Amino acid sequence: MALPVLLLQFLLSLPISKAGCEEKCGDIPIPYPFGFGNPNCYRKRYDVTCNHTFTPPKPFISNTNYEILNISPLGQLHTKTFVTYDCYDQEKDRSINRVRSSFGLVDLPYTFSDTKNKFTAIGCDTVSYITGTRDGRGFTTGCSMVCSDQQSLGNGSCSGMGCCQTSIQKGFKMFVVELYSLYNHTNVSNFNPCSYAFMVDSEWFNFSVPDILGYMGFYNRNEKMVPAVLDWAIEKYTCENASSSDPNYACGKNSECFNSPNGLGYLCNCSQGYQGNPYFDHGCQDIDECMNSTMNDCSSSGVCTNTPGSYTCSCPPGTRGDGRENGSGCASPPRNLSQLIQVFLGIGFGILFLLFVSSWLYWGIQHRRQKKRKENFFQQNGGLLLRQLLSSHDANVEFTEEELEKATHNYDKSLILGRGGYGTVYKGTLPNNKIVAIKKSKIVDESQVEQFINEVVILSQIEHENVVKLLGCCLDSEVPLLVYEFITNGTLFHHIHDEGHKSSISWDNRLRIATETAKAIAHLHSAVTPPIIHRDIKSANILLDDFFKAKVSDFGASRLVPLDHTQLTTLVQGTLGYLDPEYFQTSHLTEKSDVYSFGVVLVELLTGRKALELDRPEREKNLAIHFMNLMKEDDILNILEDRVLHEADKDQLCEVTKLACRCLSMKGEERPTMKEVDRELEGFRGFDNHPWVEHNHEEAEYLLGEQSNLQRCSTAEYDSSLRGHVAISLNNGR
Ligand SMILES: *[C@@H]1O[C@H](CO)[C@@H](O)[C@H](O)[C@H]1NC(C)=O
Ligand SMILES: *[C@@H]1O[C@H](CO)[C@@H](O)[C@H](O)[C@H]1NC(C)=O
Ligand SMILES: *[C@@H]1O[C@H](CO)[C@@H](O)[C@H](O)[C@H]1NC(C)=O
Ligand SMILES: *[C@@H]1O[C@H](CO)[C@@H](O)[C@H](O)[C@H]1NC(C)=O
Ligand SMILES: *[C@@H]1O[C@H](CO)[C@@H](O)[C@H](O)[C@H]1NC(C)=O
Ligand SMILES: *[C@@H]1O[C@H](CO)[C@@H](O)[C@H](O)[C@H]1NC(C)=O
Ligand SMILES: *[C@@H]1O[C@H](CO)[C@@H](O)[C@H](O)[C@H]1NC(C)=O
Ligand SMILES: *[C@@H]1O[C@H](CO)[C@@H](O)[C@H](O)[C@H]1NC(C)=O
Ligand SMILES: *[C@@H]1O[C@H](CO)[C@@H](O)[C@H](O)[C@H]1NC(C)=O
Repeated sequence: MALPVLLLQFLLSLPISKAGCEEKCGDIPIPYPFGFGNPNCYRKRYDVTCNHTFTPPKPFISNTNYEILNISPLGQLHTKTFVTYDCYDQEKDRSINRVRSSFGLVDLPYTFSDTKNKFTAIGCDTVSYITGTRDGRGFTTGCSMVCSDQQSLGNGSCSGMGCCQTSIQKGFKMFVVELYSLYNHTNVSNFNPCSYAFMVDSEWFNFSVPDILGYMGFYNRNEKMVPAVLDWAIEKYTCENASSSDPNYACGKNSECFNSPNGLGYLCNCSQGYQGNPYFDHGCQDIDECMNSTMNDCSSSGVCTNTPGSYTCSCPPGTRGDGRENGSGCASPPRNLSQLIQVFLGIGFGILFLLFVSSWLYWGIQHRRQKKRKENFFQQNGGLLLRQLLSSHDANVEFTEEELEKATHNYDKSLILGRGGYGTVYKGTLPNNKIVAIKKSKIVDESQVEQFINEVVILSQIEHENVVKLLGCCLDSEVPLLVYEFITNGTLFHHIHDEGHKSSISWDNRLRIATETAKAIAHLHSAVTPPIIHRDIKSANILLDDFFKAKVSDFGASRLVPLDHTQLTTLVQGTLGYLDPEYFQTSHLTEKSDVYSFGVVLVELLTGRKALELDRPEREKNLAIHFMNLMKEDDILNILEDRVLHEADKDQLCEVTKLACRCLSMKGEERPTMKEVDRELEGFRGFDNHPWVEHNHEEAEYLLGEQSNLQRCSTAEYDSSLRGHVAISLNNGR
């Protein structure tokens, strides 16, 4: 008995917050997507402030003064709202004629619940209004009451005598309460000195006569607040479009999506037979219904077997039936059958038994083989190593082979999104309707397994909005399978170069894409430990979403830089046209190789030309070299794309071309770091709005410094070594 109870306790204490995050603020549990502290602990916009100046500490919504009393994962949150009040003191003649208070959660993913709350006013000479705003339009409702004496009032009912309640509209994020009196309480001053109005959880509030008399037993006098209910949801999408359009689709494994009743967005719920927090990536866990007899309907003599999401009942050998309490149960076979029938049955069962045993044996052996095979793959693919590394992180990143086969209709050709040097990418749909990109790697070389695993672990930890998110991987298949978030709008290459798309991106978007890409690479180089060198930055590896937000992808060639090295010697790898000539010649890989490749992407954005076009005249084949030559000859305008020339500010264009030129420097050390590139691009974006160049001497000198760099671009030494390089790389390419 002790073991099941222990297990049950374990199940009951399933985590509600992400690993490493506090589960409670004071006494209040804060389930993910809510959380506080580290930004990894909550979904954006669902942050909570835990104020430790209180004992015990109290949670508040974001940075508001709305205290959180409890959070229901199914879309509701209890908070407190202020009571608006207006008290009259006849003797001191302190009457205030009108009181207004406003409340708001503008720009937060909450609305005041129209089903749970009631707008309530108390008083005997009282007029009150509530005006809520929704989508910029106001809705006013309210009530007025005049009563002449205390005798007519009754406890419990709030029905217009001294107390009135009215429903509010759906979807208020903000409201204003107004309160005033008709006769300054002169006629009722002997028993009703104050009027009150507030929005309140109608299940909580009970009217009683002393409230009218000014005792207001129902709320804490110091706080002057009452509980109210907010609806929350994952905003802006509905279940119908969330799984395909929401880049951060919230519902994890084994969970279902449902639309929030007030149209605010969608919510997630564990599927039948599962429990836990559906907002975790690894989702809900199976419930073991056999653990507790109240959770299954197997009869006392039946055998309960847990299955994912459900359970089965069966009968022990020697008995028959379905093993269910209200079914046929389990009974010994009847004994009064005639001899003959018994013999027939005996033979029949004998044959059946033999068939069963042999098929069971066959199946068992097959199963063992399959399992052995999988274990081999798992080990060969570094599964054990991965598990070890992961146990220190708590990322659930394992998918099974069957899951992914199902998601891609057995790797259907029509679902292929692209092919690269390192594998084929398929579009897949997981059982919870989440759309993902699944990369099937080519056979991995055993010596690289450790490196590969390290990358999977590191990448699954990178959280950067401009890096494609790795959701997980599958290692028990023959080749490793990686699962990424699905980016909707294809590659940058497609948008710049493919027929019918040429010139389709505005200059502003181009500059933003460049900045975002630079940010992502800078993040890889300097914000993660150990740093990561991407090694294959190119327009085909920059994905765009519907709003042209850039996401860097394809880390198949990436390398980790051990902390005590600043350069690595590796087999030269990369894409012709983007390959850093210095790296090509020396095999020394440094972060500056990514800077060179980024420079090529920048030139592609400026010119709309491909990095390598073999059918052009000799001097124009390699875009980077052609660009540098034109830069030297001061003839750069000829190659820039028309749309760029039209839309870009002259100064902006000048600075961006200079930056590209520096990124394409022959010598790695002369190239800027990715961080500098990011900062400069960010600066150019605000060029016309913020003429900081004039005001900031240091920056101005910095720009002058750039000029001399530009001259360095055009030295003869540079030119000749580049020519050498192009000869080699073109020969290599054929
Ligand atoms: C915590 O609450 C106190 C008292 O209400 C307030 O003064 C303080 O600003 C709050 N701190 C934070 C971090 O919100
Ligand atoms: C109303 O309730 C209060 C206490 O809540 C009690 O003192 C009072 O007698 C009740 N009045 C009536 C009319 O029931
Ligand atoms: C109520 O009080 C206000 C302010 O003292 C005064 O202007 C107003 O005339 C009074 N109204 C009545 C009905 O007595
Ligand atoms: C309340 O008092 C005002 C004068 O202050 C009077 O005009 C009015 O009729 C009274 N109302 C009631 C319901 O007694
Ligand atoms: C109101 O009445 C209900 C049931 O009668 C009770 O459960 C609840 O606690 C009461 N609320 C308050 C604030 O007293
Ligand atoms: C999703 O659907 C809702 C309701 O139909 C719509 O308001 C919203 O704009 C849609 N979002 C996207 C990204 O399509
Ligand atoms: C959530 O799922 C449970 C069973 O898994 C179901 O009973 C319940 O009705 C669901 N709730 C909503 C709001 O869909
Ligand atoms: C079985 O579950 C029920 C309700 O889920 C619970 O009340 C009961 O205590 C549990 N029994 C055991 C032995 O844990
Ligand atoms: C079985 O039947 C009894 C009586 O008809 C009923 O009370 C009980 O709830 C049923 N149990 C299940 C698991 O359906």
